[in-house]
Formats: sequence, C-alpha cells, structure tokens
Amino acid sequence: MRIIGVMSGTSLDGIDAALVEFDHAGTPQLLGFHHSAYPGELLTTLRTINADTPLGHVLALDAELSTHYAQAVTAVCEQTHTPPDQVDAIGLHGQTVLHAPRAKPAVTCQLGDPSRLAQQTGICVVADFRQRDLAGGGEGAPLAPLFHAALFAAQSPRAVVNLGGIANVSVLSDRGEVVCGFDCGPANTLLDGWIQRHHHQAFDAAGAWAAGGQVDDALLERLQSDAFFARRPPKSTGTEYFNAAWLDAQLTGTEAPADVQATLAALSAWAIAQALSAVSAGVTDLIVTGGGAHNTDLIGRIAAALPDVRIRDSAAEGLPAEAIEAIGFAWLARATLRGQALDLTKITGAKAPAILGGIYPA
Ligand SMILES: Nc1ncnc2c1ncn2[C@@H]1O[C@H](COP(=O)(O)OP(=O)(O)OP(=O)(O)O)[C@@H](O)[C@H]1O
Ligand SMILES: [Mg+2]
Repeated sequence: MRIIGVMSGTSLDGIDAALVEFDHAGTPQLLGFHHSAYPGELLTTLRTINADTPLGHVLALDAELSTHYAQAVTAVCEQTHTPPDQVDAIGLHGQTVLHAPRAKPAVTCQLGDPSRLAQQTGICVVADFRQRDLAGGGEGAPLAPLFHAALFAAQSPRAVVNLGGIANVSVLSDRGEVVCGFDCGPANTLLDGWIQRHHHQAFDAAGAWAAGGQVDDALLERLQSDAFFARRPPKSTGTEYFNAAWLDAQLTGTEAPADVQATLAALSAWAIAQALSAVSAGVTDLIVTGGGAHNTDLIGRIAAALPDVRIRDSAAEGLPAEAIEAIGFAWLARATLRGQALDLTKITGAKAPAILGGIYPA
C-alpha cells in the first residue's frame, strides 16, 4: 500500500507530506517527503482564528486549506515521480483550530475539507481521526503513541517524545507495546511565539537565542506550578491553553527577553522529564521526533534533565524527525482502510478500541 500522510501541526509552520510504502507486515518505507510553508496571509488567518470568527470565514478557510493540502500531495507525487493513481490513499490530519477535550460536550476541530481534497487529487482521503476517539470517550489526542509503537518498537523499554508545538510522550514496553502516551506540555509553541514577538523570526534556530539567556528560576517555578503539569494522564492540550496570554500572566515585565526564552526552553525540557518520571517506566532510551529535534539547546536541556537516559534523534532509527508525524497519519489511514480497530484506552482514555477516521473515496 502506498499512502501519503499529510500533517500540519500546532506550530503552524506549514504542511508536511510523506509518501510511504507499507509492506505486508505494515513496515513503512519513506519514499518521499515534502514540506511547504503556509503563505503569509493564510498564516495570519490561522493565528487569529478563534471561537468568535464568523462561520462563513471558518468554512472558507476549510475550503482554502484543502487546496494547499492538494498542492502538497501533488508536490510529493512529482518529487517521487509517482502518478496519483498509484497512491492508495491520503491520511489527512487537517489543521487544528480548536481542541477542547474537557469542554461539555468535548470538541476538537481540524480544518481542511477532505471531500475537496479527494475531488482535487483523485485520491481516496482518510480523515477525522480525532473525532471518533473523542466520540468514544477519549481526549482525541495524542494519537502518535500508536504509530510510535509501530515505528520504534525495540527490546528495551523506551520512550518517544514528539517535539511539535506541544510535546507528547509515548512510553513503550520491552515488547513494543504502548504503556502510556500523553501530552506533557508546550514544546515549541511558546518558544516560537516569544521569538516572533521580539525578533520577528518564525523560530529560534538551534535554540541559539535561548542558549544565550539565563533561566529565571522564579519565573520557571511560576510556570511549572500550572495544574496541567501535575495532572495524571490521560491528558492532552493545545495552543488555546499554552499561548502568549498564558505566559504573559506570569511575567513581571522586568525580565530580559533572552532570559524568558531560556526559561521557556527549560520549561519544555522539565515538562518532558517530569512526565517521564511521573510514569516511571524504567525508560532507558528516548527517541526524539518533530521539528524540535533540531533545537540543539532544547535537546541539551532534555539530556541534562534525564541524565540516565540515552537520547537520540529518530533519524538514527532511519526515519527523519520532521517526517514522523506525517508518516504516522499514513499509518493511521492504512489501519482505517484495513478496518483495524485501534486501542487508545491507555492513551486517550477512550472506552474501547475503535476504527478511527472517515473514508472519503476518490
Ligand atoms: N532548526 C531548528 N531549530 C530550532 N527549532 C526548530 C528547527 N526546525 C524546526 N524547529 C521547530 O520545530 C517546529 C515545527 O515542528 P513540527 O512541524 O514537528 O511541529 P508541529 O507542526 O506543531 O506538529 P505537532 O502536531 O507535532 O505539534 C518549528 O515551529 C520550530 O519551533
Ligand atoms: Mg509542522
């Protein structure tokens, strides 16, 4: 089976498309990967969309995003000289604009109309993965632990952490089963927001700005005292919670900007370390995925916080860090097409295994 996984995460850095070939055992081989940044105007719209945005604008954005996804699919097909009719499906995550699993009723919303994407590409689309989990009593996130287990199973207990906008951790047993998986807090989203505000850069390349600052211990303690960190899993979060307003509420206004950046990096590292120690699974190895794997400063802080754990980038396992989530959505789409129920009971708190996703035929 050949499937294109399409991921666009909370960092709003753009669209990742991964063309993946699965063998009969379900082992994925990455045939091609394409990243496209969101154009400036779309980015502004995505950054400002909220619960007060008129419904007409939301639906227009839903339609517009599908066109960008179609372009990303075309780009990865062209790059790999793969005609679309040789692709079995697209596994579409969509762009999260709202994730409120604790609201009554619980809601999550990913935009990027799958019907239009199927129409535009002529390829079957599998989408709406989070909705079914939410309907089944789960948090709707994270879904990554399922494919982390499939991609990174090994003989020793290990953990995988995805450093996207939010950090999510998956703990795997020595038999490669998921012990638990949950969101542990912000990874890049606060770092990105702070450098955007002060230096108009999309992100802190290699964490160089944070590395030049001093951690403000008092600020760090105030940030760490947020109840989310102490909550037991299952838990998930998003940028509607960890955002500029959340940070601003804890600032005195006297902090040097570089020191705040250093403190935010320290917070991300601490959140991961404390999450792993809270579930205390005797983890010996940690595999790092997501764009934050390229943040040398952040990785150094995680390593310092987990001195007994071997840390390596997923590229060392043959899969580039920035492609894992997109590969994962190809993996999830394959499971849906095969009618395979996935067990998220230990991850999202879903009541029972379920076939996730809706199928939008070509
Ligand atoms: N060279 C780099 N140095 C520092 N940070 C980087 C670098 N490259 C990428 N990043 C960080 O990675 C982020 C993008 O990561 P990724 O695409 O995995 O996150 P995402 O789109 O939010 O996905 P998720 O759904 O997992 O949250 C960027 O916003 C940036 O913060
Ligand atoms: Mg991304």
